Amino acid sequence: MRNISRFRFSMIMDLNNNIQKDEIHNQLKNYGYLLVKDSRIDWKANEEYFDLMETYFDKRSRELEQNGKVNDCFPQYKYQVGLGYENIGKPNYDKESLKYMIDQPIIIDRDPKWKYFWPYRYDGLYNPPKWIPQDFKNFESIMNNWQFQLLRTTEQVLEILSLAFEEEKEFFYNNMNKATHLLSPIGCDLQKHQINTRFSGYHYDLNFITVHTKSRFPGLFVWLPNGKRVELRIPEKTILFQPGKLFEFMTGGIYKAGYHEALLTEEAKKESIKLNKKWRVTSTIFIMLNDNTILQPMNYFKNLNIQKYEAISVKEQFKKELNKLSYV
Ligand SMILES: [Fe+2]
Repeated sequence: MRNISRFRFSMIMDLNNNIQKDEIHNQLKNYGYLLVKDSRIDWKANEEYFDLMETYFDKRSRELEQNGKVNDCFPQYKYQVGLGYENIGKPNYDKESLKYMIDQPIIIDRDPKWKYFWPYRYDGLYNPPKWIPQDFKNFESIMNNWQFQLLRTTEQVLEILSLAFEEEKEFFYNNMNKATHLLSPIGCDLQKHQINTRFSGYHYDLNFITVHTKSRFPGLFVWLPNGKRVELRIPEKTILFQPGKLFEFMTGGIYKAGYHEALLTEEAKKESIKLNKKWRVTSTIFIMLNDNTILQPMNYFKNLNIQKYEAISVKEQFKKELNKLSYV
């Protein structure tokens, strides 16, 4: 078995154990992300999801090539539901952040990645509505099944975070139970592109927390809070939680949105040829906060040396961010 210690820097927290508040803070401070084990997860659902999305992206990319157009796209909703294809989105970063990075990123203008947004709302009030591709008969059940697993783990991690930040354990749940959470497979064509191609350029995520499990191919790189860039290999059967911009607002900038990028590594290229698999698919869910949540530092952080952020609702903040992303 491959030795992964070179790539794994933080400890893994097992949800079956009692996780101490200090552990959470140490992890976020030193690494900027959390790695979690959850024994309830049905990992077969993850494999079914990968199989489905590899086939899906493959089919749609061929259709785009042959017909010059593709189904399942909703530009009128800024591609926030259904399919988004290569080069429609821009990586989202603050120029200011470059000052703090020891390892400087390679900046790209457009992301040559594909994505599919599959929303989940606790209240069932989908707007825009979910979209099911008509030529994939198990799409809905496979996506729902995997989305459920990730959301269940997230709910427990949010309880732990609420307590670590000295709020009631329902605090974050109460601030996310009327939001749209997106299961968001990202598809990267490993054969079309050259080694070192950035599929997702240097960026932060605009949501609250991003949740990932390990992809079938490597390629995720993150910037640690000290500005160093490392390859992050998520271990098998482990879930990664990475703060997005809304997390940064809620913690007064003590825990910043994690910068990251995905690229085509030499190893992924070789594996892709050996296995005759074209697509690197991510297993990702973007957790949002409710539209009416006001983004301001939580009490726990108010006494710390925090940055000044203007109090703004999630809805307003999200609108600002989406305007920067282009999607045209
Ligand atoms: Fe991202």
